[in-house]
Parts: sequence; structure tokens; C-alpha cells
Amino acid sequence: MEQQKIEALLGEMSLDEKINQLFQGNGMFYEGESIATGPVSAQGFTEQTIRETGSVLSIIGAETVKKLQKAHMENHPHKIPLVFMADIINGYKTVFPIPLGQGAMFNPEMAKTGAEVAAKEAAASGIHVTFAPMVDLVRDARWGRVMESTGEDAYLNSVYAKALVEGYQGEDPKAPGKIGACVKHFAGYGGAMAGRDYNNAELSERTLRDDYLPAYEAAVKAGALLVMTSFNTLNHVPSTANKWLMRQVLREEMGFDGAVISDWAAIEEIKNHGAAADLKEAAKLAMEAGCDIDMMTTCYANYLKELIENKELDEKLLDEAVLRVLELKNKLGLFENPYKDADEEAEKELLLCKDHRKKAKEAAKESFVLLRNKKMLPLKKDEKVAFIGPYVEEKSIIGAWSVFADEADAVSVKEGVKNLGIKAIFAKGCDSLAPGETIHGMNKKYTNNRSKADAEIMLGEAVDAALKADKVVLCIGEHMAQTGEGASRADITIPKHQKRLLKEVARVNKNVIVVLFTGRPLDVRKIKEVAKAIMVVWMPGTEGGNAIAEVLYGKTAPSGKLPMSFPYSVGQVPVFYDEFRTGRYYDGKPTENRFLSKYLDVPNKPLYPFGYGLSYTEFSYSKVKLSADCMKSGEEITASVKVKNEGRREGAEVVQLYICDEVGSVVRPVRELKGFEKVWLAPGEEKEITFTITEEMLKFYDINMEYKAEPGKFIVYAGGCSDTENAAEFTFG
Ligand code: GLC
Repeated sequence: MEQQKIEALLGEMSLDEKINQLFQGNGMFYEGESIATGPVSAQGFTEQTIRETGSVLSIIGAETVKKLQKAHMENHPHKIPLVFMADIINGYKTVFPIPLGQGAMFNPEMAKTGAEVAAKEAAASGIHVTFAPMVDLVRDARWGRVMESTGEDAYLNSVYAKALVEGYQGEDPKAPGKIGACVKHFAGYGGAMAGRDYNNAELSERTLRDDYLPAYEAAVKAGALLVMTSFNTLNHVPSTANKWLMRQVLREEMGFDGAVISDWAAIEEIKNHGAAADLKEAAKLAMEAGCDIDMMTTCYANYLKELIENKELDEKLLDEAVLRVLELKNKLGLFENPYKDADEEAEKELLLCKDHRKKAKEAAKESFVLLRNKKMLPLKKDEKVAFIGPYVEEKSIIGAWSVFADEADAVSVKEGVKNLGIKAIFAKGCDSLAPGETIHGMNKKYTNNRSKADAEIMLGEAVDAALKADKVVLCIGEHMAQTGEGASRADITIPKHQKRLLKEVARVNKNVIVVLFTGRPLDVRKIKEVAKAIMVVWMPGTEGGNAIAEVLYGKTAPSGKLPMSFPYSVGQVPVFYDEFRTGRYYDGKPTENRFLSKYLDVPNKPLYPFGYGLSYTEFSYSKVKLSADCMKSGEEITASVKVKNEGRREGAEVVQLYICDEVGSVVRPVRELKGFEKVWLAPGEEKEITFTITEEMLKFYDINMEYKAEPGKFIVYAGGCSDTENAAEFTFG
């Protein structure tokens, strides 16, 4: 519809209609199944609010959506269609690895493919917008939502943010098989203090701008149709009421002109934070800050009319918000086709189809990170292997946010091994939860009803299986519901009863390979003490079991790298590679000097750093070479390095480029990722990788908060991990 028709439509809407266009409820207000992904209370929603609603969340299914949309438009005074939104984070029905695992792929193109698959499936089921990508930078493994992020690096997150938005939306989100992207959570949610969800974030403006904002900006520049506000405060102001953040940073500086939606109940929570005396004030602050859609509260529906009629709020702000919602619907083509791609036949054909499963399996394989391998992997088909642990049969491997997918569709490790035609021994050994333990996931409760006596028997059977085998593959890890929203953990080790299984199995068999299921970096010291191999598989998605079997048996070599540091202990957290030197830098070497920035009881370095990961072969690197040792403003130089596969198996290496700005008008990180390239090399094959270094890469927010590069000495590092010392220097300016 032409813009002037949209504006004319706005002009015809009553005040009530305009206000109700900004409400978003979930399925509890409509017949048909829905899912609540936040606290639910049906307080104060009126019949008119529902009749004149602008959008809904978490209602899925072509038949349901078409029925609801038809009824809604028949009842709506101006026949304005609903926009259907939902959390499609790492897949709709065919589930890909959790985003942290996708970050480990160091392959944004593959993540884009996953987003394309998710969009096709979700669109067929009537969904118009996904609340993704989540691009919050994360440095604290205690925070449950690190699983939704692509990790601790601003550059990596920015590259993925762009790829995911492009995957969901394509060139035109109104095109068939495309859905709108809603980048979240704006902003700085990953900085929740103490890793405790919903906690405030204490970030300097410089840290916010240098580290946390780039990925949101990348999503906005890629054309994300919506931005979602975050639950946290920034500078002691709740994001949903933060005018500076939303009107100056997001709209003026980043140029975002789309719709802003609150996170679940976040407008009402302005009062809970203590930044509003009541819900009326909360509504006023949110509207003034530029929040357009009120998700799951009645703040706007119940108070905007009074605020406007009492001249406490300018109706112009309301009109701007409503216009952005109407424009959103127009960008999705909903005025011409309110049902978009909702199609029961397409659902049958697309959901979990072979091609989608194949893509999910390829992504899972590339997400695995091999942390340790003392000649254990790959397994040989004729070896006698016992697969032990809760995750041998567990199908809760699709990630906490896969609320619309069915765990039963997932392939377990046992099924994956059998699909390879391998004869192996299988013994569960224990459940992922302890006997009698219950945990509430995002949309279901998990309880382990097994008695302690039965658990002992199961443990004994596992030890017997270990005794009979040449090698043990121990499939353990945190429960899927111990990760994700509302799942912060102060203890980031594997559950106690699984530690016992590890100990008992390792007592009788020294060849233990741990396959680790997790939604966060864990403290794996105890595992490393007894396991000769460790492979992190995150929550690998629907095809997890097939992917794990194929990598363990060498059909594909592992190629992932850590997108987030694995701490030595939770006491180090937050720990991340692009730290600052401090005035008393500690190089990690033994010293009697007390007065250095270090701990008495643990090292400074994480157990496994950002960018680390092994393959089934070894790679060698040539000395990194620069095309020049000085670079003037506006010029570029190149950094080249040769990487060679020195082993006898094909493998992939992620060649990483880091730059250190030695001296700045403000302190600068010890190094920052500025480029990477994943290469597959045959045995003996060598390839030269060349990166272009630009002035843009050297920019940061200087002492005057101006974004620019400063003259001086820079060190370039190139290698297969963030701790590479393969370096060369150049001067800029
Ligand atoms: C949740 C999450 C957000 C999600 C929204 C809708 O509380 O914070 O990421 O998109 O509510 O489910």
C-alpha cells in the first residue's frame, strides 16, 4: 500500500483504535493453543483491546493463524490485519544448534542458511516476524541466556547479526518464505550484573558503544524491521524508558526507522524497577522514550488515552508509534495479503523435510568444538565402544528456546550411532537430572521420577559396560532447562550426580571421551583430569545425534572454535580475551611479586580461550606478513599468512586476525578480533589467507567520545586462536 494511504488510514483511526493497535497479546486471549514465554496475568484486558489489537505473539499454525486473522479483520473497524510474531531463535520445527553453537561454527553463511530454513518453515505456519536475532554480547557464563548469543566478541556478533537478518528477511521480507527480523535485546542485556538474569547492567558509555552496540547496529544496517527493548537498566535507566538509548542512539545515530517493541511486560516493569510511581507513569515514560508496541501489559491500553486527553502526553508521539506499526505491516505486505505464507500444504511439505534436516546436521557438525584429544578420536568402526550417559538417549537437545519444536523429532546419540550402522554398547548410567529433581523449562516441566535405588542399578550397569569396552564415549552435560532465560547458575560445572558417573566410569576405563552438552561455557577442570578427549556439542538441535556420530567416527572433522571463553573457574567470571592490560599486567608466569593483577588461587587465563578448537589434524602457520609497515589515514594494508594441513586427515581451520592498538587516548584491549576465514584443507594442502586492514578497523571511542583511529603502533596477530603470538607490527598515521 502506498505511504499516503497508510497515513490516510492513520488519520481515520479513532484514539482508542490507535492505542489498541500498540497492544500485543499472546494466545491466551484467543482460542487455540499458545505458549507463554514470560509471567502471565490476564489483568485488565478489555474486549475492545483484543478486538482492536495490532499484533499477537506465540500463536502458530497455518490453520489457526488464518482463522484468527479472518475473524480479527471482520471485527476490526478498519480491517487492519494482525501481525503474528514468535520466538524462532534457532529453528522453528527443524532446529539448528543454539546460537552459541552457531557462533562456534565461525561460519555466518551457514547461520544464514539456518535462518532461511527457519523463515520458510515459520512463514508456512503463519508467522510474520521472529524475535531474533538476539545479538547481546556475553562475557558471563553464569547468565543462562549466553546460549542465545553468538558470543563474547563484538566483531563476530556483528557478522552474525547481519547474516541472520539477511537469512530471515532476504531482499524483501514480504517475499514468500521470508519473515521480519526483530533484533534484541536493546541494549546491553548481556551485561547483567553477576550473570543474574534481568539484573542491571553497569556499563560505561564507551564499553556500551565499543563492545555492545556494534551487533545491534549491524542488524539495523542489515534492515531488521523491529528492535526489542531489554529488561535491564543502563546508567540506572530501564531500557524501555531510556529516551537517550532509543531516540538518540537507535533512531538518530543508527538511523533505525522501524518499530520498537517492548520485551515481555517490560513497560510495566519500569514501575517494578522503581523508575515510575505507577503504570500510568510507566506508559508515559515508555511512549516518550519511543517504545511503540506494548507486549503483554495494559499500560498503553489503559493509560495512554487519559495521558493524551489530559495533555500529559503529545498525541503526535502516539501517531508516530502507530504509523510505524502500520508501516511494519506494509513492509510485510499484510494489507495486500493478510495471510502471507500461511499454508497447511506447505507446512506438510516443509516442516522437518529432508533438506532442512540435512542443513541442520551440517550446521551441528560445524558447531562442535574439540577441546582435547589424546589420540582418542576419530573412533574406528571396529573398536569396542560403550556410549554411556544421560545424553545417549536424551532428546532434550534442541535448546531452551525451541518452544515450537518437538523434542521427539530430535535424533539421539544412540540413534545417530545406529544410523551409521555401528555396533556399540549403550548404557544410560544416570539421568540428566538427579533422582527426584524437577526443573521448570521455558514451556514445560522436567522431573526425574527415578528412585535412588534404580539410579544405583543404572550406574552399576554403566560401569559394567565401561569394563567391557576399549573406549567410553560419555555423553553428559547440563540439562537443557538449566540454560536459557531465567536460568542463571552460580555453579558452572556439570551436575553432581553426573560427576559421580564420570568418576566411576573413569575408574574402570582410562579411555574416556566426553561429549559435553551445554548452553554455556562450563568449568571442565574435573572432566579434563580424567577424560582423554572432550568435545563440546552445545545443544546441537534436531539432528544432534547424527551429527555427533558422524564427527566421532570421522565422517566429518570437528571445526568449531570457542565463541566464548571457557573459564578455569567461575571465580574468574566475567573472563574474556579482549581484556585490558591494567597498570600491573600479569603475564601468567610464576612470580613472587604480590602486587600484580592476579589471583592467589587461580590463573588469570581461562581454561580454554576464545577462538580455541582442535580438529583431527594439525595446522602450521607461516610468519604473518604485512604489505607495509606503515599505513596513512585513508590507506589500507594487507596481512597474509600461510596455513598448512600437516596431518593425514582433511580438516578445517579458522584463521583469525587480531589487532592490538598499543597506545590510545584511552586504554585499549590487549587485542581485538578483526577478521576470520574458515578453510578446509586436505592433508598436506597449504593456503595463503590475506586480510585487508582498514582505518575503520582501528577506530574506537576516544577520550572525547569521538569514533576514530589514532596514530601510533599496532600489532597484528594471525593464527588459529586468540592467544596466538604470530605477530607483525605497523604504524598508522
Ligand atoms: C521473553 C524474552 C524475549 C522474547 C519475549 C517473547 O521474556 O526476553 O527474548 O522474545 O519474551 O517471548
